[in-house]
Amino acid sequence: MTSSFPGTGPQLTIRTIPKPSDINYNGHIFGGWILSQMDIAGGLAAHQRAGGSVATVAIEGMKFHHPVLVNDLFSVYTNIVKTGRTSLTVHVEVKVMRSGLVDEILVTEGMFVFVRIDENARPVPIASAPAP
Ligand SMILES: CC(C)(COP(=O)(O)OP(=O)(O)OC[C@H]1O[C@@H](n2cnc3c(N)ncnc32)[C@H](O)[C@@H]1OP(=O)(O)O)[C@@H](O)C(=O)NCCC(=O)NCCS
Repeated sequence: MTSSFPGTGPQLTIRTIPKPSDINYNGHIFGGWILSQMDIAGGLAAHQRAGGSVATVAIEGMKFHHPVLVNDLFSVYTNIVKTGRTSLTVHVEVKVMRSGLVDEILVTEGMFVFVRIDENARPVPIASAPAP
């Protein structure tokens, strides 16, 4: 069974500032650092909705639209777009607020799939209703 919870919309899940130690050879923030922040944020959202431990099973449609710079105000937004029997699909967006700009810029997005797991790290059904 698959169901959606329309209307919740993107939720701010993590806000941080990347450090000089996170840059790659281009002087931009390393994609792996961005990806890890997205995985953490998506996992937090999925954990909250599923009411317990989750594991990342797939990451789909990653798109790096623009580079992230040191000292950007880095915000990760999560939106649960699909709930399956044991899985949750979370659309994760990263936006940055940059010095001198008025609006946030969408820099990266992707679709993260998490599976609700038990104490043996095996998939278990999740409740169909949102967690309180
Ligand atoms: C997550 C894990 C427990 C799932 O076990 P599994 O035996 O593959 O699970 P299943 O085949 O029963 O699939 C479970 C759910 O995941 C979904 N799924 C599995 N592979 C998927 C993929 N590649 N893309 C999207 N969804 C996927 C299935 O559709 C199913 O969803 P549903 O129950 O809502 O219909 C197992 O794959 C695992 O341990 N992976 C490693 C996790 C990990 O280390 N992640 C990184 C750190 S968190």
